[in-house]
Amino acid sequence: MKLTSLLRAMLTRSFRPFLFESDGDPVLEYGDAERLGLYVHIPFCRSICGFCPYCKTVYEKERSRRYLEALLAEIRRVGEMGKGRREVTSLYFGGGTPALMADELGLITGELKRWFDIGGQIGAELHPEDVTVETLEKLKAAGVTMLSIGIQSFQRDSLERLGRTEPPAKAIAKALRQVPFESVSMDLIFALPGQTADRLKEDIRTAFELGADQIAAYPFIDFTFADNEYRPVPEREKKRMLREITDYCRELGCVRTSVWTFGKPGKPKYSSMTREQFLGFGPSAATLLSDQFKINTFDLESYIARTAAEDLPTALTLRFTGRQRMIYHLFWEAYTTEVDPDNFQRLFARRLEDCFGWELILCRLLGLAKKEPKKDRPGHVYRMTGRGAYYYHFIEQYYTLSYIDRMWNVLGREPFPKELRM
Ligand SMILES: C[S@@+](CC[C@H](N)C(=O)[O-])C[C@H]1O[C@@H](n2cnc3c(N)ncnc32)[C@H](O)[C@@H]1O
Ligand code: SF4
Repeated sequence: MKLTSLLRAMLTRSFRPFLFESDGDPVLEYGDAERLGLYVHIPFCRSICGFCPYCKTVYEKERSRRYLEALLAEIRRVGEMGKGRREVTSLYFGGGTPALMADELGLITGELKRWFDIGGQIGAELHPEDVTVETLEKLKAAGVTMLSIGIQSFQRDSLERLGRTEPPAKAIAKALRQVPFESVSMDLIFALPGQTADRLKEDIRTAFELGADQIAAYPFIDFTFADNEYRPVPEREKKRMLREITDYCRELGCVRTSVWTFGKPGKPKYSSMTREQFLGFGPSAATLLSDQFKINTFDLESYIARTAAEDLPTALTLRFTGRQRMIYHLFWEAYTTEVDPDNFQRLFARRLEDCFGWELILCRLLGLAKKEPKKDRPGHVYRMTGRGAYYYHFIEQYYTLSYIDRMWNVLGREPFPKELRM
């Protein structure tokens, strides 16, 4: 039995696998969902990077025009199912490269605002080449307040291995000064072959100097369906690099805002992954509600055809058992490095300690988490330690390779698979 299956069986106290089926509900019930977030996927890039697992295709004007129509139709269709205007906590544009549709993002946010009150931030992912005054002004006009820039590295040899060119550092800094946003995050990839801790620190320092408020340091993941000519470095090396990143970011006065991100205190954090419930639009976008997880087809033409027929473009649906849903929630809340028992109580009407008593004791005994009083209110939280963050990284990679890799691989080949057991 694989480690992830064993862990899943222990935590869900059942050998029942996660069963993703093709026969999703034709109607989405999200009328009572609290703290709902929105995600919109823009599946276009100028060119394709071999290492990247995301759903994307090379940008063509005519295709993006047809995509826009389909996306607006999906938003309308889902919006109508919400039974009245809904408050949402955030909106993230991910990709692909959302800035390639910078001219259309205003139309998309406009359609979303017909159905949703977007209370919080609006974030968008950018390729370094998108960081120009002209594009940033368009994003701002569309309501975007936060940016995430896919730098990956400033080092020529690391970039060459990734098949990327050097980010135009000076132009990025200048454009960000001229068109400021509430928060700017920069993605860096670590644990690339040949990359040293000193080079990585140099990258982190450069990112902050160019105007980042946060960095996201992702360990390099070798997806089975990606086109990588090199293998990841051994776990021991990865662990050492992670410790160096953590210590260095602290030295720079940053706080850990999640397992992968470090930011300047007081700045809004860019985190598209940590919402309790969310609605996703576009190919490959996922939706998470109180009883189910759904993922849209990855195939752009199938997506366009489904939405034109006024059907939901869902490829697979997982209907959670109660305990599976709790685990899913805790996994992603733990990603923020803090688990708040009050959130658990609000979502499941049960005490966290009653449902996961021995697991919490074990985490504390193993030095993975500490119980701490809340800073601003009565009550307590479970805070992940540095050791806990490393093991979370480790499990997250296992999870990515066992679940996400497999699911995305299947969905990349079949627009609507019959079922998937994991
Ligand atoms: C959708 S991309 C970012 C936006 C933009 N398209 C770009 O490439 O600059 C999201 C991020 O995922 C990370 N990523 C992609 N493939 C990865 C891999 N194989 N291992 C680790 N991180 C990866 C990269 O840091 C990337 O910036
Ligand atoms: S890393 Fe970014 S630019 Fe490269 S293929 Fe992936 S989404 Fe596109």
